[in-house]
Amino acid sequence: MYVCLCNAVTDKVIRKVVQQHQPQTMKELRQLCPIGTDCGKCIRQAREILVEEQDNA
Ligand code: FES
Repeated sequence: MYVCLCNAVTDKVIRKVVQQHQPQTMKELRQLCPIGTDCGKCIRQAREILVEEQDNA
């Protein structure tokens, strides 16, 4: 499922990036993949995925 439509980033991609690079913040996550660079609508969902993956780690 696409989280960021503007940049065609899926939840799978975000989960993989979080697992591999373990970003601690949204800022760090955004340095690793292009989310929220345009309309910003994806930020909230991307944060939820980040927190979910951090909890699962
Ligand atoms: Fe991510 Fe627009 S959906 S910046």
